[in-house]
Amino acid sequence: MILQPIMLKRLQTKWGVNTTQFIIIMCVFAITGTTTAWITKVITEWVGFTSDTYWLWRWMLRLAMLIFGYQVILLSVAFLFGQFPFFWQYEKKILKRMGIPIPGEVKISETKLPIAKTHDSINVHEITAGSDLRATDAQEPVYIALFASGAGSNARAIIDYFRKRPFVKVALIISNKPQAGVLDIATKENIPTITIAKERFFKGDSYIPDLKSGKIQWIILAGFLWKVPAALIEAFPGKIINIHPALLPNYGGKGMYGHFVHEAVIAAGEQKSGITIHYVDELFDHGAHIFQAYCDIEPGETPEMLAKKIQVLEHRHYPEVIERLITNAGV
Ligand code: GAR
Repeated sequence: MILQPIMLKRLQTKWGVNTTQFIIIMCVFAITGTTTAWITKVITEWVGFTSDTYWLWRWMLRLAMLIFGYQVILLSVAFLFGQFPFFWQYEKKILKRMGIPIPGEVKISETKLPIAKTHDSINVHEITAGSDLRATDAQEPVYIALFASGAGSNARAIIDYFRKRPFVKVALIISNKPQAGVLDIATKENIPTITIAKERFFKGDSYIPDLKSGKIQWIILAGFLWKVPAALIEAFPGKIINIHPALLPNYGGKGMYGHFVHEAVIAAGEQKSGITIHYVDELFDHGAHIFQAYCDIEPGETPEMLAKKIQVLEHRHYPEVIERLITNAGV
């Protein structure tokens, strides 16, 4: 089948790589295909298989080469071409589908929950890949601001995700804590920051002029531990979202963050926990749900073990849900 230029472009967008890297990746696939065919032929001759050999043996050898040999050759060729990280991600997906455990990966069995309530008819489960809805290179990106109070691992995941998808730009990072780890991340990434003062945030202009002059369209809370004032919610209707490390409406609200959440979940003897991404209103961890995913809690699991699994879910889903919301909003 001849790949049309438009299909190639779509593939490139899906992989989130530039044109040079895309060409190298295609070369790696081509070289791997040819090499695998050649090695299969050499092995076939070496073991003495001929056209007279029972067809099942010949096919089993080819299948083994296709399933295992190909993957090893692919990674080796990728390494030679400096593309190991890209292909390792690719391989991990394949191994996961085959049910083969990946060293260093936190194992979670995960299920997305149906969302009972949606907001403005936006329901991520109704949205398909979203690639057709993406802004083109010629359009200005959608500017988003991240609000965070802590280490910023979610902020990190979001920044990394959109680095390859420049139609969304993390344009501002706002924190209420001058020592928050997220501010170090912002400095390294050259992203402007604001450390907010309580008085101005709750009783002043809530930094709305700064957000508007910075062309911010979406506000993403990523471990932001203050409530969001009404003025800010009114200034960004339906454009402020939060992530919570539990299956709301349970285990949310004031004081329910970080290890407190996981400790409460384990202490209650729950058999599953998860993440909730939701629109923000004036209450803590309240507002219409957009997305949930959950994992099972194994017997004997500690809050620390659960925290790791929840973090995997957060990093896996939050950036993608943000992308889907933004692209579906007619950008
Ligand atoms: C995340 O687990 C997020 O869900 C939680 O804070 C953590 C921030 O971690 N948010 C809440 O608890 C909101 N109530 P991070 O700084 O590593 O991204």
